[in-house]
Amino acid sequence: MSFLPISINVENKKLLIVGGGKVALQKIKNILPFTTNITVVAPEINGEINKTDKITIITDFYNKKYMEGMFLVYACSDSPEVNKQVLKDAESSGILCNRTDQSEKSHFHSPGITETEEMLVTINSKRKEVKKMVKLKDEVHTHLKEREELLSQKEKQKGKVYLVGFGPGNPDLITRRGEKLLFQADVIFYDDLLDAQALDRYSAEKIYVGKRRGNHSKEQREINKILFKAAQENKMVVRLKGGDPLIFGRGSEEKFYLEQNGIEVEIVPGISSAVAAAAHGNIPLTHRGISSSVAFGTAHGKNSYQILESDTSVYFMGAKNIRQIAQKYLDNGYPSDFPVALIHNASLDNQKVMKTTINKIIKNDFKIESPVISVFGNTVNYQEILKEKERETK
Ligand SMILES: C[S@@+](CC[C@H](N)C(=O)[O-])C[C@H]1O[C@@H](n2cnc3c(N)ncnc32)[C@H](O)[C@@H]1O
Repeated sequence: MSFLPISINVENKKLLIVGGGKVALQKIKNILPFTTNITVVAPEINGEINKTDKITIITDFYNKKYMEGMFLVYACSDSPEVNKQVLKDAESSGILCNRTDQSEKSHFHSPGITETEEMLVTINSKRKEVKKMVKLKDEVHTHLKEREELLSQKEKQKGKVYLVGFGPGNPDLITRRGEKLLFQADVIFYDDLLDAQALDRYSAEKIYVGKRRGNHSKEQREINKILFKAAQENKMVVRLKGGDPLIFGRGSEEKFYLEQNGIEVEIVPGISSAVAAAAHGNIPLTHRGISSSVAFGTAHGKNSYQILESDTSVYFMGAKNIRQIAQKYLDNGYPSDFPVALIHNASLDNQKVMKTTINKIIKNDFKIESPVISVFGNTVNYQEILKEKERETK
């Protein structure tokens, strides 16, 4: 049987409750916020129901005559026989009935309800899983309260710019604070390193300020000015940045410019793609006995990359220059089988992890698509090293 979820206006409509026990009491409690036009009929009435003024109480056995003029009926009696009769009478009178002891036979159910000042949410369980429904109801309630609280804070944050790290691209990897701010923002400025669809759930205006998609690069100066203008218009501005705003993200440039021009700025850190690539590619950046230092560098721009002075070196923006970097390692005396890992689209469904050596990179001259994180160092092969150590100690 399938039930169509609807909400019914019961103002000025009469509702009948057949039964005077605990079940009836619970029903009355649920119905009272919506209408007081309730009649209860039962030979014995629970003390608490009796105390409820506003409702009509008839101390009598159920009789079909009590159904007259009713809009909805709840069969809540302890006796299945009585409930069965109530449902039958309701059916023949064209009145909708909820039979609480056999809800699948009812004409309607009462959903779980949770409400805040702004919202009323109803939850229906498809399989009568009451415990799950109650748990979900509580979770929804907490979520709604948090959201309303956030929205009420919004006024205080007007005219401010938040530089928020989005993480490596998977929307699950943004921080809680970043997510909260996205919900509150008036305007979100984003660029290439995230899928714009991930922003659909936020009501803010979304403005692309990226550098690909055939658009000419938005100059950093231009972006600074756009952010400044939005803040000056008294908007709550979120500037989303891939990874962490302060790692090759130009976050500090934007912060400096805005603050120089009197705009308040907060930086919300994000998971850098370097850290995400290591985690998702199963490559520790440090490992006791193998690597005790790690450095981040850029491989962008002709000859801008350099050999980093650390056990593990992580290069950003290396898609184009990976061969030249590998060559530089070889020229600087690193062994030809020095390990390299290339992680493309870390954390996303189409992530690719390639483990190779500097020699293979130079010889094969292979191409890798951007975005890629390149890790140079022995931890790329840490599992093999550990296995070898184990063999030696046996
Ligand atoms: C302009 S930098 C931004 C770095 C960012 N602030 C961070 O902390 O990850 C862009 C570079 O980050 C790297 N990157 C960003 N997201 C990535 C991902 N999901 N997988 C691999 N590399 C990524 C690539 O090297 C890309 O060229």
